[in-house]
Amino acid sequence: MVNKIHPHPSKHAPGQTVYERYLRTEELLSLQKPENELVHHDELQFQVVHQVFELWWKETTFELHSIRTLLQQFNLPPAIRLLQRVIRTQFVLLENLRMLETMSPWDFHEFRKVLADGAGTDSPGFHALMTLSPLLWGDFSRLLEHEHVSLPDIYIHADRYPLLMAFAEGLIDYDEVFQIFRSQHFKLAQRMIGPGSIGTGGTPMELLERTLKDVFYPELWEVRNQLTTIADEQGLK
Ligand code: HEM
Repeated sequence: MVNKIHPHPSKHAPGQTVYERYLRTEELLSLQKPENELVHHDELQFQVVHQVFELWWKETTFELHSIRTLLQQFNLPPAIRLLQRVIRTQFVLLENLRMLETMSPWDFHEFRKVLADGAGTDSPGFHALMTLSPLLWGDFSRLLEHEHVSLPDIYIHADRYPLLMAFAEGLIDYDEVFQIFRSQHFKLAQRMIGPGSIGTGGTPMELLERTLKDVFYPELWEVRNQLTTIADEQGLK
């Protein structure tokens, strides 16, 4: 048994319902170029994808501030829950980024000039994350000091420190997915403008590539080396 969906226009004038007022849909949907001003068909998608990034990065920043406060209060369970939300958000954004792969390089060139010297390097959301994310490490290490435990120990004796371990693993998930975003973005830029080109902001692609090894939490990557050494010393391999 199936039900056919018939066209159902809204019974209300635009902007009149509680839904629209609460979500401020009139303002939200007026934040993209009107159709008659689009230089190219794909420009609307380009703008929406970027705006979605800014919205989710705003949300991420909000959560990271809360996580910092919780860490400073030594309150790990809600901090872990919010960190999981932050991680999922970045995965949502990977899919969002891939939307732009439905655009050909020539489609992009046909409206690239409207970007002038505008570039992702000026994204407020990106800057907020680049500023805030590393600070979580200081909060987390103070927590380790408070518990008198070293980073390798929370992995080796994970049964004794389940919350600290869960948080550390969440941090590395976040670091990893952010690196994946950067490398996926780099691949997107390569397929759009080519590996030997220069971005609208003036950055050569080779320079952009150098950022791909940057991480927020080097200590969490380094501890893997230490664990491998300890395991070797203990004859675990
Ligand atoms: C057609 C799609 C895209 C292309 C060709 C592209 C290309 C580039 C290039 C070449 C740069 C280096 C700076 C410059 O422009 O000179 C850059 C930086 C950046 N772009 Fe994009 N981008 C695209 C889409 C996006 C999207 C959807 C976002 C999401 C907000 C984004 C965020 C960024 C960020 C945050 C940077 C700075 C990266 C860093 O400093 O590590 N880009 N992009």
